[in-house]
Amino acid sequence: MAVKALVLAAGAGTRMKSSAPKVLQDLAGLPLLQWVLDAIAPLPLDEIVVVVGHGAREVEKILPEGVKARLQDQQLGTGHAVRAGVTGMDIGSNSILVLPGDMPLLTKTTIRKLLDHHQEGTAAATVLTAEIEGSDFGRMVRDGTGRLVGIVELKDADPDQASVLEVNGGVYVFDGNLLGEALESLTTENAQGEYYLTDVVGMLVGAGHTVDTVVTDAAELTGVNSHQQLADAAHLVRRRINQRWMSEGVWMQDPDRVYIGARVQLAAGVRIFPDVHLEGTTEVGADTILGPDVYALDTRIGMGSRVWYSVMRGSSVGDEAEVGPYASLRPGTVLEARSKLGTFVETKNTRLGEGAKVPHLAYMGDADIGARANVGAGSITCNYDGVSKYPTKIGERAFIGSDTMLVAPVTIGEDAYTGAGSVITQDVPPGSLAVERSEQREIRDYAARVQARKKKKQQGD
Ligand code: UD1
Ligand code: CA
Repeated sequence: MAVKALVLAAGAGTRMKSSAPKVLQDLAGLPLLQWVLDAIAPLPLDEIVVVVGHGAREVEKILPEGVKARLQDQQLGTGHAVRAGVTGMDIGSNSILVLPGDMPLLTKTTIRKLLDHHQEGTAAATVLTAEIEGSDFGRMVRDGTGRLVGIVELKDADPDQASVLEVNGGVYVFDGNLLGEALESLTTENAQGEYYLTDVVGMLVGAGHTVDTVVTDAAELTGVNSHQQLADAAHLVRRRINQRWMSEGVWMQDPDRVYIGARVQLAAGVRIFPDVHLEGTTEVGADTILGPDVYALDTRIGMGSRVWYSVMRGSSVGDEAEVGPYASLRPGTVLEARSKLGTFVETKNTRLGEGAKVPHLAYMGDADIGARANVGAGSITCNYDGVSKYPTKIGERAFIGSDTMLVAPVTIGEDAYTGAGSVITQDVPPGSLAVERSEQREIRDYAARVQARKKKKQQGD
């Protein structure tokens, strides 16, 4: 029997007070909906349909290939959403897995358990539940013998029903034929005036069918309806991600202060100090030490490197390189093996060859710096004339004196030197020294002359 999945993602998410659709809110670098799609991706599903409505266009953009979108043009409730979702779908003798798009902590293991339970038994539907105190979820209402009779939303519950701890996770597997029939009979006679998917459960039981439940832990059913809940979910996800990396050999001084995106890759032996944020497709090689205080986005860092108090975006750092403290690597920065980018250095679209060093207070933009070259403190590539950007090339082993202004386009040859304080506007041939500054003058006995002037002024007073 084939299984088809429906992910409900049309809701507005009113409680977020955000113009973006709720299911696109970011959680550890991925939209909420992506977490649910990732959880079901490895399951043997015949078809995956996402019901879209609010911000449908933006939501459709993130759907992976093979996942279809179906529009629910008015959000009249979860039952209405499922009806929209199954329109044009061959539900017949298939099982239909229904999931909310706003429950990012659901795991594939739990969903698989629910599916297996349903397929091994004969129930018309199987519902994922948990025992949660003080939840605003629908209540699983049972008769005196413990048999499930229906699901009652909290807003429709009497005090007895409201006191039930077992709640509806909003994840279900239905027999396709029976679901199709029940959807036709849904009404909006309830506190919210909506078509409730939960009513399908009561209808099935009323018609003499069995509905089973599978219990999971409360954390997996963390729903996101507000910014507080989004932060709570982010906390749980962070713990999950960090635990996983620690089990793979990553050391963290304080895992509560390490923020690793869902798509980041770390090798064993990486060491992470507090307040490190790794985002996007960042990758870190073995034995590299990060932090305190590192922000890295879409950046590749090699093995045995050290980065602290620094920001790196769209950059690449080789093996055994050193970055920081207080370096800013803007997109297009490439640091080759054993190179060093030190304190208060900014780079953009710049390559540092093997073993090259820019240790202090510099800006290198659109520069190609050869292997083992050294750029002195206070040096700057003047790469922008207010209209266009120009390249600077520094040859291998060149020595750029402190406070050199490299007015691009300009080339400094291999083994060449520039004198401290020079404004270099012309190419420097390999092996030469270029000095551009006026000659030093000395005024003899200057201090004595000042003293004499002071004395004269006092006498005049
Ligand atoms: C729903 C359940 C509740 C359960 C809870 C668990 C109903 C009536 N109630 O309540 O029993 O405990 O989920 O998460 O089903 N959606 C649409 N179209 C709509 C309405 C909702 O696509 O017209 C989507 C939302 O985007 C969301 C999901 O369905 O992803 C759940 O909707 P939501 O309004 O959050 O339902 P709850 O009030 O949480
Ligand atoms: Ca919800």
